[in-house]
Amino acid sequence: MFVSENLSVNAQGHLMIGKNDAVELAKQFGTPLYVMDEALIRKNCRIYKNAMDRYYGGQGLILYANKAFCTLYTCRIAKEEGLGLDVVSGGELYTAIKAGFPMEKVCFHGNNKTREELELAVENRVGHIIVDNIYELELLESIAAKAGIVQDIMFRIKPGIDAHTHSYIQTGQIDSKFGVALENGEAFEIIEKAVKMQNVRVTGVHCHIGSQIFDLEPFCQAAEVMMQFIGDLKDKLGLEIRELNLGGGYGIMYTRKDDPIEYDRYIEHVSEVVKAAAEKRGVKLPFIYMEPGRSIVASAGITLYTVGGIKDIKGVRKYISVDGGMCDNPRYIMYESEYEAVVANDAAAERTELATIAGKCCESGDILIKDTMMPSVYVGDIIAVEATGAYNYSMSSNYNRIPRPAVVAVNDGEARVVVKRETYEDLIRNDI
Ligand code: LLP
Repeated sequence: MFVSENLSVNAQGHLMIGKNDAVELAKQFGTPLYVMDEALIRKNCRIYKNAMDRYYGGQGLILYANKAFCTLYTCRIAKEEGLGLDVVSGGELYTAIKAGFPMEKVCFHGNNKTREELELAVENRVGHIIVDNIYELELLESIAAKAGIVQDIMFRIKPGIDAHTHSYIQTGQIDSKFGVALENGEAFEIIEKAVKMQNVRVTGVHCHIGSQIFDLEPFCQAAEVMMQFIGDLKDKLGLEIRELNLGGGYGIMYTRKDDPIEYDRYIEHVSEVVKAAAEKRGVKLPFIYMEPGRSIVASAGITLYTVGGIKDIKGVRKYISVDGGMCDNPRYIMYESEYEAVVANDAAAERTELATIAGKCCESGDILIKDTMMPSVYVGDIIAVEATGAYNYSMSSNYNRIPRPAVVAVNDGEARVVVKRETYEDLIRNDI
């Protein structure tokens, strides 16, 4: 009936998330409201971690890709679950530092890290910096030299794999702003330079082919290509690459049309490819990193809204407007992403009519869900959009000076605010 496994209906017909009544949450904390089910986040972390143990002898580390939902709260969960962290900016790194995250388990990504960001990373002894380009390599070498350390690095490689997903979130092909390509020799050249440097140590190679991918095949192909490259580096440079970071990108279910693969199967299959290739090329089995973001948090989240104006334009379209929109979930306006919604106060109601759920921003494209089957909806109803735990809060904005919603974590019937609702005062805090 629902897209996410943690949703159900109680005897009053209310939507339940875990053991919490969504209508009560809306009453208690107001709307719009991000609700995160902690039990499901932790369960997802464990699926990946256990798979790494089972299929790869524990010789790997799962890094939670923080960009999907970065808060002190999510950093602490990742830490408690024994995961590492993928950070992609000074701000994400700062959040991790403030959450007391073990820095040796952090990988710092990004295609244009600034000097200040690299200095922050070096000062805090981040485990690995994933170097994207030659400018960054030289900058990092000088920063590490000044700090008197040798920084472990991996290189962001474009393995030349076209993954089937939205073009905005495809990253493995040569025409991408991320990383250095294999096919034109760029990747080899940069590593050849790096091994001669004094203050960086090349420990690994990294790739990330894209996001919201449902096939196993591109991940296996990427692993194969990367292992061949590791073999080439050994043969040509005598360089032993100890670590292979395969990125994230595992698809999740947003609507009933989606058919995701069980998360542990990625590790199962990729492990086989890596083991076979290591044997064939005579290289040591690398320590593996994987970086799931979306698949850890997306299904754990819902967003609650209150219905305001309803416009039934006969013969055209029915619009149901809610008190949030592209400012808390820009994924429709960016990628035309699809979602499903439930009337939380009448969650078992039959879906009888086609409607479009629109936001409140001053923008015609501010839609949450276009043309979806809904029951009769009335002013004051609470609508829950499913699977909003990833890339919603983290991509939210204050467009139209709309304050960001609060984030409430629910766990076994308990609910607590983990990010406060922004106030109007917050909106003008930095105005002078
Ligand atoms: N590792 C790297 C280097 C990445 O760039 C990403 C995502 C991940 C891991 C995590 O990928 P995931 O498992 O979450 O798919 N805003 C877009 C998604 C952008 C993904 C960017 N990189 C969206 O809302 O669909």
